Amino acid sequence: MTEHGKTPVTVLGLGAMGTALVEALLAAGHPVTAWNRTPGRAEGVAAKGASVASTVSEALAANKIVIACLLDYDSVHEVLDPVAAGLEGRQLINLTNGTPGQAREMSAWAGQLGAEYLDGGIMAIPPMIGTPAAFIFYSGSGSVLAHARSALDTFGGVKYLGVDPGLAPLHDIALLSGMYGNFMGVIQAFALVGSAGVKAREFAPLLRDWLAAMGGFLDRAAEQIDDGDYVTGVVSNIAMQAGAYPNLLKAAEEQGISAELLTPLQPLMDKRVAAGHGAEDLIGVIELLKK
Ligand SMILES: NC(=O)c1ccc[n+]([C@@H]2O[C@H](COP(=O)([O-])OP(=O)(O)OC[C@H]3O[C@@H](n4cnc5c(N)ncnc54)[C@H](OP(=O)(O)O)[C@@H]3O)[C@@H](O)[C@H]2O)c1
Repeated sequence: MTEHGKTPVTVLGLGAMGTALVEALLAAGHPVTAWNRTPGRAEGVAAKGASVASTVSEALAANKIVIACLLDYDSVHEVLDPVAAGLEGRQLINLTNGTPGQAREMSAWAGQLGAEYLDGGIMAIPPMIGTPAAFIFYSGSGSVLAHARSALDTFGGVKYLGVDPGLAPLHDIALLSGMYGNFMGVIQAFALVGSAGVKAREFAPLLRDWLAAMGGFLDRAAEQIDDGDYVTGVVSNIAMQAGAYPNLLKAAEEQGISAELLTPLQPLMDKRVAAGHGAEDLIGVIELLKK
């Protein structure tokens, strides 16, 4: 920490997200040393007060706290492997998107090199960084989080999930899974009405209200999963839904659009019904996902 209570930080990666992180740190007065593979991308943050390191080694040497925000874990290894000895005594905070397994591997790798490791999953897009709407999942070393806390607070909310470094990406990927599932349905709905010439802007309020009305599904599903009871109080059983679902696929075909975003659910519903679970709620399909 500097004499003004600020936390000096190194940031590796000045893509859209890395740049947003650096700008948030600079805006809060934290000294930043930044490095990017393509040097030209550092000009913007340099103009705002960041020191620019010309090599990764120089960037690692500049500060104890090192934040990586690169494309993927392979690129993090590509950047750090050749200068791995420089990680000794460093606190590596990896905000690159990845899987739980990749995070655990990188934590072990960093540990062998004498670095402490904190993984992070950014739940925001770059313009949200530094606003109350942004939050980041963290898992791994609690002491790294404590040491870097004033810097990390500048990005948005901090949600620490525990010492297992895989927990942050696990939660990150789970939220993204929910988001992409939602996007798939939304894309399909727009395509379907669009095939009849309905303007997306005209249809959007109907879809928004419908999805909001169905929002209660989520809390009900959570209760059913935790209680292991997919039957009590069911009003729309899976046998009925499995019978109606083919209409979603047929309607797409009739309208001349692909149903490929929707098709995977049908066999799972049918399988559940065939196994004698027709009186249960749709959420019982979760049992078929467990390997
Ligand atoms: N943008 C978002 O909405 C968002 C939201 C949440 C999480 N994230 C995550 O944040 C991370 C960064 O995303 P971004 O939006 O900043 O991506 P981006 O704009 O595509 O930037 C990618 C960064 O990775 C660097 N890079 C890629 N391959 C490299 C390699 N082999 N060696 C060295 N550097 C390499 C690029 O360097 P060059 O400039 O030299 O190409 C650049 O700094 C990703 O893991 C992403 O999933 C992004």
